[in-house]
Amino acid sequence: MRISVIGGGLMGSGIAEVCARSGISVTVVEADEERAQAASDRIIRSLDRGVRAGKLDESEKAEAQERLAFSASFGDVAGCDAAIEAVVESEPIKREVFRELDRLLPDAAFLATNTSSVPIMKLAAATERPQRVLGLHFFNPVPVLPLVELVRSIMTSEETLEQARSFAQSALGKTCIESQDRAGFIVNALLIPYLLSAIRMYESGFASREDIDNGMRLGCAHPMGPLALADLIGLDTLQAVAESLYEEFRDPAAVAPAVLNRMVEAGLLGRKTGQGFYEYSS
Ligand code: CAA
Ligand code: NAD
Repeated sequence: MRISVIGGGLMGSGIAEVCARSGISVTVVEADEERAQAASDRIIRSLDRGVRAGKLDESEKAEAQERLAFSASFGDVAGCDAAIEAVVESEPIKREVFRELDRLLPDAAFLATNTSSVPIMKLAAATERPQRVLGLHFFNPVPVLPLVELVRSIMTSEETLEQARSFAQSALGKTCIESQDRAGFIVNALLIPYLLSAIRMYESGFASREDIDNGMRLGCAHPMGPLALADLIGLDTLQAVAESLYEEFRDPAAVAPAVLNRMVEAGLLGRKTGQGFYEYSS
């Protein structure tokens, strides 16, 4: 099997790594050569981390690397058995990617999106095979978190859903849950309003960032506090997810706080740019 992963950022590189480690050949398509190289470097760093942690050995790392190809040319997806889209959380950009995937992949291929929040039907409508389009929502960091949300639009066929379930469960060893096609699906519909309320709490001076994060880490046994988690997700992604949720539900809890908007405008996107609610040294 060969799949294509479109977008090799935080999530696309994690998805590509997990696929390659599971014996699947992967073509990662990025926007330009420099970003394609950055995706390759990111995966090698993560594989090295896996070797250091005893999760795989040097020969398994080499085999995984052999299964990975990186490209800045969309045409290289042609002939793949399936595609997973993981570009930035922007509906117009994703719709354009789906139009191209529909044009280039064989009719039998399923087209999946890793979107955090865009309703699947909006992307499926950009193709002529809506029955072969679904959401396969992985979690960050992909090599560590076991969950995949399967999201079926009103047009997704049973066959597509079962093929994708078998891919995520049997081929990748993930655990699946199934959500209706509503903005945010199950997990982000619950998680994002919580993260936004933590940001509002910080913005209002109610408590320090450390006390907010320690409160949830030490008082509720979360692996990380909400502001650190926002930085891990990426503040641009968080803002975009908030916008999708608000567009769908008109719930004030999904409105992005002003400080989040200002940080995104300033390019303070969290870990991926070295600064968000906290500072990070590479
Ligand atoms: N690649 C491979 N392995 C990794 C890794 C990576 N990038 N990051 C961590 N690991 C492994 C480590 O090797 C380690 O494994 P062992 O326990 O077997 O030794 C384990 O994961 C824990 O890592 P660390 O000890 O280095 O660090 P930690 O204990 O502080 O955990 C964390 C780091 C995994 C990020 C943890 O803090 C965590 O799970 N945080 C919550 C993350 C979360 O909630 N993600 C969901 C975000 S929302 C989302 O994804 C949906 C969306 O649409 C926005
Ligand atoms: P990211 O900013 O790290 O990466 C996005 C990548 O897409 C960038 O490398 C960019 O160069 C690339 N890209 C943009 N336009 C492209 C195009 N036309 N063709 C090819 N590549 C293109 O973002 P991310 O965190 O990896 O998020 C990707 C998707 O996954 C989003 O839909 C996001 O909502 C979703 N997601 C994110 C998380 C998270 O925690 N960050 C978790 C689950 C799902």
